[in-house]
Amino acid sequence: MCGIVAYIGNRPCHRLLIEGLKRLEYRGYDSAGIALLEPDGSGKGRIDVRKTIGRVAALTEVAKDKASSGSTLGIAHTRWATHGGVTDVNAHPHVDDTGTICLIHNGIIENYDVLKKYLIEHGRKFHTETDSEVLANLIAHLYEGDLERAVQSALREVTGAYSIAVMCVDEPDTLVCARKGSPLIVGIGSGEYIVASDGSAIVAHTAQAMTLEDYTVVRLSRDGFRTSTLDNVELTPKVMQLELELDEIELGSYEHYMLKEIYEQPDALRTCMRGRLDKNEGRVVLGGLKSFEQELVRSRRIIIAAQGTALHAGMIGEYLFEDLAKIPVEVEYASELRYRNPIIEERTVAIAVSQSGETADTLAALHEARDRGALTLGVVNVVGSTISRDTHAGVYLRVGPEIGVASTKAFTGQVAVLTMLSLWLARRRFMSTPAVQRIIEEFERIPDQIDATLKLDEQIKDITAKYIERENWLFLGRGYNYPTAMEGALKLKEISYIHAEGMPAAEMKHGPIALIDNGMPCVFIATQGAQYEKVVSNIEEVRSRGGHIIAVATEGDERIKSIAEDVIFIPDVAEPLSPLVAVVPLQLMAYHAAVLRGHDVDKPRNLAKSVTVE
Ligand code: M6R
Repeated sequence: MCGIVAYIGNRPCHRLLIEGLKRLEYRGYDSAGIALLEPDGSGKGRIDVRKTIGRVAALTEVAKDKASSGSTLGIAHTRWATHGGVTDVNAHPHVDDTGTICLIHNGIIENYDVLKKYLIEHGRKFHTETDSEVLANLIAHLYEGDLERAVQSALREVTGAYSIAVMCVDEPDTLVCARKGSPLIVGIGSGEYIVASDGSAIVAHTAQAMTLEDYTVVRLSRDGFRTSTLDNVELTPKVMQLELELDEIELGSYEHYMLKEIYEQPDALRTCMRGRLDKNEGRVVLGGLKSFEQELVRSRRIIIAAQGTALHAGMIGEYLFEDLAKIPVEVEYASELRYRNPIIEERTVAIAVSQSGETADTLAALHEARDRGALTLGVVNVVGSTISRDTHAGVYLRVGPEIGVASTKAFTGQVAVLTMLSLWLARRRFMSTPAVQRIIEEFERIPDQIDATLKLDEQIKDITAKYIERENWLFLGRGYNYPTAMEGALKLKEISYIHAEGMPAAEMKHGPIALIDNGMPCVFIATQGAQYEKVVSNIEEVRSRGGHIIAVATEGDERIKSIAEDVIFIPDVAEPLSPLVAVVPLQLMAYHAAVLRGHDVDKPRNLAKSVTVE
């Protein structure tokens, strides 16, 4: 995915655009660019484009002579490459070959090759390998003095996903934007508009914003705006207040967003649970499910589709739904589910779990399930995101914006919401009031137990430092701790670039045990639970082959202490809730490993915060 920001108004916008890009940089960071439309004195404009590979900091340098430009119309982009390598020329903004149209684009134009061929036949020349340059040329090709109409006509020819912002040298008072499948918000200020991929680039300027539905075009000028369909039918936009505070997206005293977000987990979970748990009545209240209560209670099967960290949360959901609500669950990579002709029987509920609500594979799996008759639910963090809008019902995480590419508080938020969902269902199916009350009581203690675990940060850092030279790690657990082990391995590899594998502890014997050599770090999630004894045996198996045991264990467990090199003691938590606490030391371990190895924790190589392409 990429980040886009655009401005039209009455103040010079260079700085605003660069600041906006910095906020959006988590969305993609292999190159960046900015274009300003400057009046040329004849009633037209001149476009100045600066772009470079690297971060926004590099762009600031490349465009520093433009910092004093008086231009009040501009567009800027931070890229995560899809079509074409990471080069200066492939970076956005893109200008058509006549220099008339300039645009930024987030998404993929799937039929770009057919369009490109057509445009070449009509004399157009291309200078980049991108699909976005094709769109700039298509708009220019169709331009007959009205930018809005040219954008509408071009987008009618396009298949794929886009959010775009477009300027034209002949219309220095117009900015045209559009979206389909990729996010775009228009901030409404006084005599100005700030358009961005998300609210973080807008909130410093205005809290009023409009969200655009798919296939909507908006023409913005200094005097007002008009929204329309691709067929030029006028639309009435939805105006809303951005629910985002500046301090939620600022680093504050933390060195990295990931660390801030790890430390935010206790409060984030308090907010996630607030108003949803009624201990006295033994009830869970989830307003977003109200209209589908009957269908949900009568459901026979649940399918959970997700990717990455969200998939691991979904795997914990499987244990929760089966344990508490006694309903069969399948968890699947959304990328596999979407193509495997899945059997969706009557009364199937499909749950899409996603922080961003924009992950392309998760969205496609959701559509597949919906089209085959499933009732669809979203467990999503970003309010108004595509998944939240394309599902029948859902529950928001309410954990606040997550900016670090490595997902942390969204994971615990997803697990918390899946816990509430399974309790909600369990209560309406089999579970007695006292049983629900007992779990709620334990659940409400979780934020404090995470707080207590965060106090172990220094110890976790020291343990990590001991093994920092090792290139291969194993993460092992059973039952609820198995997905937690998977998540620990993913966290470590994605930000420290250390090879790590997570798996059920028993699976190790079926092959991976051959990897264990003298001193290999093996992290066992060995908290008290139904399979505790079996995990102890697995630890012994690793020990006898020279592996070094780092155990996450329940406070006071002397037995684990006697067989592990290092133990991180976490509070005693009821087994179904234990992943919420047990994952925290693993997040901190990954964080410290990345810092110790000198990596960019919040922007790991090759990654982007959400993967909006297949
Ligand atoms: O936005 P989503 O939750 O749908 O994203 C899913 C994965 O791309 C995401 O969890 C990814 O694995 C993270 N980088 C993990 O930290």
